[in-house]
Amino acid sequence: MKMKLLIFVALLGLSLAQHSPHTKHGRTSIVHLFEWRWADIAAECERYLAPNGYGGVQISPPNEHIVVSSPWRPWWERYQPIGYNLCSRSGNEQELQDMITRCNNVGVNIYVDAVINHMCGSGGGEGHHSSCGSYFNAHKKDFPTVPYSAMDFNDGKCKTGSGNIESYNDINQVRDCRLVSLLDLALEKEHVRAKTADYMNKLIDMGVAGFRVDACKHMWPGDMKAVFDRMHNLNTHWFAGGSRPFIFQEVIDLGGEPIQSREYFGLGRVTEFKYGARLGNIVRKWNGEKLSYLKNWGEGWGFMPNDKAVVFVDNHDNQRGHGAGGAAIVTFWDSRLYKMAMALMLAHPYGVTRVMSSFRWDRRIVNGKDQNDWMGPPSFSNGSTKPVPINPDTTCGDGWVCEHRWRQIRNMVIFRNVVNGQPFSNWWDNQSNQIAFGRGNQGFLVINNDDWNLDVTLNTGLPAGTYCDVISGDKNENRCTGKQVQVGGDGRAHFQISNMAEDPFMAIHAESKLC
Ligand SMILES: *[C@@H]1O[C@H](CO)[C@@H](O)[C@H](O)[C@H]1NC(C)=O
Ligand SMILES: *[C@@H]1O[C@H](CO)[C@@H](O)[C@H](O)[C@H]1NC(C)=O
Repeated sequence: MKMKLLIFVALLGLSLAQHSPHTKHGRTSIVHLFEWRWADIAAECERYLAPNGYGGVQISPPNEHIVVSSPWRPWWERYQPIGYNLCSRSGNEQELQDMITRCNNVGVNIYVDAVINHMCGSGGGEGHHSSCGSYFNAHKKDFPTVPYSAMDFNDGKCKTGSGNIESYNDINQVRDCRLVSLLDLALEKEHVRAKTADYMNKLIDMGVAGFRVDACKHMWPGDMKAVFDRMHNLNTHWFAGGSRPFIFQEVIDLGGEPIQSREYFGLGRVTEFKYGARLGNIVRKWNGEKLSYLKNWGEGWGFMPNDKAVVFVDNHDNQRGHGAGGAAIVTFWDSRLYKMAMALMLAHPYGVTRVMSSFRWDRRIVNGKDQNDWMGPPSFSNGSTKPVPINPDTTCGDGWVCEHRWRQIRNMVIFRNVVNGQPFSNWWDNQSNQIAFGRGNQGFLVINNDDWNLDVTLNTGLPAGTYCDVISGDKNENRCTGKQVQVGGDGRAHFQISNMAEDPFMAIHAESKLC
């Protein structure tokens, strides 16, 4: 009995380790710099992410991938590997190492988007149209740089007529057949396990802190465990000895399918897609949803356990209608609601938070579907990705949206760091769309999403003083460029928020207090 318990505790310790993002200096959020070049990410870590308290970056897949050029290169080519050479649209291996080193040196972690479920599409053709010019033959399932050959794929196991997944109600199809024609790797095979683990270990040794693992619903958890158990510990040049890589798994589980997120909890964290879908409905006030319903937000809404969740308002798929959540998802295109949803997420204690940083594309919605949902990042006519230029006002140019630099979002990332570990507290609502809550005695957020003004005195839980609202401005030296809030000796403060305000919410925290 005692022995059993000991083994259980040991196993728990081992697996739980893959749930920690290993962020440093009290930083709590990750930003996805979607399609950014390695050289730009390295610069961004040094000039912006570290000084503003971002804990890590999710990067686009660094593996060699197919190049599609009719008529322009789509973003999804990165999700069609042809091998594990570290040579992608974002840069080569030397640039990747330089980025990892420079980001680690300023305490910003790198998390790699790992595509190990599949290789390129079965119609990917034959030749050298890959990001480094390596040869492959999709028809023959021949990927010599790994190498993989026809026997390394699942086709023998798949029982559908088309070879593709036809029903998400059949677990075997979802995991053994091709996802939209992508050649499905046989992760039960020793060779495939060894090659995928080698790929991840090379990146771990280079200094990455973990992985966002793509398409996990389409892999058997037991196969994934066999791969992850071979992962090295993190590089001790930057991380404590014995640190396991952070794993967060893309599993789209909105309920109603046989495969559920919980099957993956033992391996690492899981993306909670219900979060952004429900939050989008709430801030849009669709289906009778109200902000006041957020009182028991998190596990109280049937979301996965707090210590298993990675949460986000939108991701690179569902911001363009792919994946999950449909039209309810709020994105930078709905900037006023987006900032409000981001503030809610970043102030609330639930989950590890991921901030999306996008590029603009020519959105063209016809009958609810974006005709240009495939469009790749800002690029030159030769197809190479453009650098991210920084404007004098700190915004980004050339079609890079840089939501992570928006004052309201950046300041709420800092808010989350300041209130880290503090309890959800001092909830108030008007039974409609005016709400407020705090985090112990460290921070307080007030939102007015009703169609009338908010004018109310609330208990903030904060010590007496004058605080700078970090939504309408910044605290600079000891001056506030935005609204100010007076908190009395009893912790109470008067708030007025017009429903017409550009940003109808306010946030104050311990470090926005003026002397
Ligand atoms: C593509 O064009 C850009 C801008 O002219 C240039 O900087 C870059 O080197 C070119 N890339 C390739 C692969 O030719
Ligand atoms: C909140 O909403 C109610 C209606 O539900 C409204 O009467 C009230 O003025 C609003 N504001 C406050 C501070 O209660």
